[in-house]
Amino acid sequence: MILSFENVSFSYNKHSILKNASFTMDSNEFLYLIGPSGSGKTTVIKLIYMDLMPQSGVVAIGEFNSQFMKERYIPMLRRKLGIIFQDFRLLTDRTVEENLSFVLHSINSPKKEIKKKIFNALSLVGLTHKRNAYPNELSGGEQQRIVIARAIINDPILILADEPTGNLDPDTSNQIMEILKDINARGTAVLVATHNYELVKKFPSNVLQIKNEQITGVKINSDLPFQLPQ
Ligand SMILES: Nc1ncnc2c1ncn2[C@@H]1O[C@H](COP(=O)(O)OP(=O)(O)OP(=O)(O)O)[C@@H](O)[C@H]1O
Ligand SMILES: [Mg+2]
Repeated sequence: MILSFENVSFSYNKHSILKNASFTMDSNEFLYLIGPSGSGKTTVIKLIYMDLMPQSGVVAIGEFNSQFMKERYIPMLRRKLGIIFQDFRLLTDRTVEENLSFVLHSINSPKKEIKKKIFNALSLVGLTHKRNAYPNELSGGEQQRIVIARAIINDPILILADEPTGNLDPDTSNQIMEILKDINARGTAVLVATHNYELVKKFPSNVLQIKNEQITGVKINSDLPFQLPQ
């Protein structure tokens, strides 16, 4: 198990998002988190990388636990997560390679290792030839692939992808999903928050749904035809 929510409650002032919500995620799982706009998907992602803390209950990721979390542990937790935001957030004044080494430099990796890690990450998203380009010289889909490369470069235990295909056309969205599936097939847990049910249908996997302040699992075997929850 890589992640668990145990009786988690969270609200913004009086606006309750989760009430005693529980779920678990296995360490090799590919999981969707679905729910309509405003249901709390991004909030759940933020609770996982501990940008937000639950008002009651426990969020546990790997060896980290919200109950025992101290401010100074948070960077350690985030280093173990690959976070892909709704908007891209690449550094616009740095090349692709610099955007990637930036993340590695922060943990003092040796130079040779940096080169190798950057090459491996760019290979996985098929963009080694763009390593010297600046973000504004890349298409939206290419930028999103760089964001994915950046997310995997430190061998995270869990990838959190918040609407990773949000602004992309269907072909590019498929490409992004295939990359995320590929990362999962190599053994990394991937959680994708989305309201794009078409994507879930096209790339079937287990689904969690936020509804009535609860997170309920809809376990789906990818070999079987399945129905999405209503
Ligand atoms: N910082 C905040 N302060 C107060 N309310 C907030 C805050 N952030 C989000 N909310 C509210 O909480 C609810 C859930 O927001 P959240 O961003 O988690 O939804 P979402 O499921 O990710 O939606 P979308 O699909 O549009 O991204 C929304 O009603 C939103 O307005
Ligand atoms: Mg959101």
